[in-house]
Amino acid sequence: MTSDSLIQRAREAALKAYAPYSRFSVGCAIESVDGAIVLGANMENACYRLGVCAEISALTAAQAAFGLDKIARVAVAGGHVADGGLAGEAVVTPCGGCRQAIYEAACLSGRDIEIVTANGSGTDVETTSIDALLPKGFGPANLADAG
Ligand code: THU
Repeated sequence: MTSDSLIQRAREAALKAYAPYSRFSVGCAIESVDGAIVLGANMENACYRLGVCAEISALTAAQAAFGLDKIARVAVAGGHVADGGLAGEAVVTPCGGCRQAIYEAACLSGRDIEIVTANGSGTDVETTSIDALLPKGFGPANLADAG
C-alpha cells in the first residue's frame, strides 16, 4: 500500500475517535510486513488522564491481529472533523509515550519501523522512522542488569 493510501486509512479511522474533551481526532493505521492493516483512534475519558492515543489503540489491534513483531509501518493523522471528513493543517507526529510503545515493537523484530505522519486534510505527508523519532530509546535490552 502506498503511504498516501495508508494515511487515507488513518484519516478514516480518525472519524471513529472519541474525543469530546480535546475535540482533536487522531487516527492510526498499522501495516504488517505481510500487508495486513489494523486501525485505531483516540479514546478520551471524563477522567482526562485515562485517555488513550490512537497509536496505542492501533498497537493493541496489531498485537491481536498479527503480533507486534510483524509491524512494518505506522501511519498517523489528526485534526478536527468537518463536513464528515478529517481536516487540519498541522502534521501530527506520535507523542513521546506512543514513540516508546512503537519502539518496543521495533525492538521485538530488530527492524526499524517506518512512521508516516500527516495533517488532518491529508495534504502534507511526511515519512520518518522510529529510530529517527526516538534515538537511543529505552528498550528490553536496557533491562539486562535487572536482578
Ligand atoms: N493524541 C493521539 O491520539 N496521538 C498522539 O500521538 C498525540 C495525541 C490524542 C490524545 C488526545 O485524545 C488528543 O490527541 C489531544 O491530545
